[in-house]
Amino acid sequence: MVHTVCVLVMETHPFAAAPPDSPTLESLPVEPLLTSEFDVDPGSVYERLRSTYGPVAPVGLMGVPAWLVLDYREVLEVLRNESVWRRDVRHWRARAEGRLPRDWPLLAGYEVRQTMFFDGEEHRTARLNYHSAMRPFQDGHSPEGWELRASVARYADELIAMLAAESGTTGHADLAAQYTRPLLLMVTTKLFGCPVELGDEMVMDLWRMLDGGPDAGPATGRVLGAMTRLAAHRRSRPGEDLTSYMLLSDPTLSDEQLGRELFMNAVHLNDITGNMVCNTLLEVLRGNATVRRSLASMQIGETVNRAALVNPPTANLCFRFAGRDVRLGNFWIRAGDIVSPSVAAAHRDLLAAQSSHLVDSAISTRAHLGWGAGPHQCPSAARELAGTIVATAVGRVFDHFARAELTLPPDQLPWRSGLMVRGLRVLPVRYELSAHSSALRAPGGGRGDEGVAVASPASPVASRPGSGLLGALRRLMFGGRKGD
Ligand code: HEM
Repeated sequence: MVHTVCVLVMETHPFAAAPPDSPTLESLPVEPLLTSEFDVDPGSVYERLRSTYGPVAPVGLMGVPAWLVLDYREVLEVLRNESVWRRDVRHWRARAEGRLPRDWPLLAGYEVRQTMFFDGEEHRTARLNYHSAMRPFQDGHSPEGWELRASVARYADELIAMLAAESGTTGHADLAAQYTRPLLLMVTTKLFGCPVELGDEMVMDLWRMLDGGPDAGPATGRVLGAMTRLAAHRRSRPGEDLTSYMLLSDPTLSDEQLGRELFMNAVHLNDITGNMVCNTLLEVLRGNATVRRSLASMQIGETVNRAALVNPPTANLCFRFAGRDVRLGNFWIRAGDIVSPSVAAAHRDLLAAQSSHLVDSAISTRAHLGWGAGPHQCPSAARELAGTIVATAVGRVFDHFARAELTLPPDQLPWRSGLMVRGLRVLPVRYELSAHSSALRAPGGGRGDEGVAVASPASPVASRPGSGLLGALRRLMFGGRKGD
């Protein structure tokens, strides 16, 4: 209700200018956001900013002032109202006036013009192309969708079998480096139709770009170059992959344009999807009761939603630029100002509203903004595909393991430093394979050198219901009554 009134006020005075005595972003003292405190405990930083400034706070981003939007209602307004909040970086006044520091590391990715940074008609057309190119992969009903889903499960089984072959039936593993990252690289290689296996160096380049490392520019150039070459390759040899289907849906795309689209998809499919896997695994491993309960009752989609509410992988979404002067929170944002909508802070706001019916009801967790909202939200086909990948990746771990525990206290886990992504560098666990795990079975029933055999990649075996850590969780949560 309050939201409706606000929108109406904006519509009634569409061209209201900021009062001359209201402070400008450049005139306000700003606290640098990306500090070691932020890496360790961003939640406290969001709370301090909220209590000092209200729903919108001025912050410093590597020497550049920006508005950080903290409250759920205001974040939703920024995401939904595309007539005010523009995506194209050319709307940014400081950039247009040449006031940014040379090689400002967070800019590299924004200079790659693709669907996410289009506005208006150009954006709508590009999104339609996505919808038709992704449709074959959206669910498991088409041959491509079925094949991709079967591959995700098979890759997950293969990777766990490799862990078992290297470390034994009980041992230590880094579920980020040894499981999640390679899994998503294998999926990307397949979905994009890459003629060669993509490697971890591409993920590291994506980290450099997203986190604003000192070599963000060259790293962006390397991934972009690889994706452009892939686009050219698939143009000459089309296949049943996303790259070829994107060309089919818009044959006018040049190799460079398609390379830019693939670049952005690589960010989502590798880094963002991978972080959703790790963040969900972490919530289960650290004992988040509601997350565990939903996993134990086999509602993996709900498990992922609950984890995304507590710890969204896209903590702060891409910048928006004010199309005109507009009041937000306690400030007047000037036309051309840069704004970062904080999903992580908005979720804290939502969870703190104890009275909110959204948090406890059955549909509660759909309120999370982990997929974004409004015209630029993650396309439905991509969401369905990513949701299946995350659910499979998470589910397979708990199917195969009888026990898994973190080997570091949760508050000592190393997080990447960056604005956009909340991602773990490592996810170290001690595990014990379930006696029923297919990772114990060698092709032909034999055992490997270390006493642990490798599963046949060609024959992924679903774990027996009730076995593995998932079964143990269900017994823990429901005393063995439910579904065992
Ligand atoms: C768990 C995994 C994923 C998450 C959490 C996620 C999240 C998001 C979010 C938050 C946005 C909006 C960004 C913003 O408004 O600033 C977005 C946009 C987008 N995502 Fe995803 N995404 C995921 C997986 C994928 C995958 C696998 C693909 C494709 C292969 C994909 C393709 C896209 C595209 C094309 C857009 C741009 C839409 C537009 O600007 O109109 N996403 N995603």
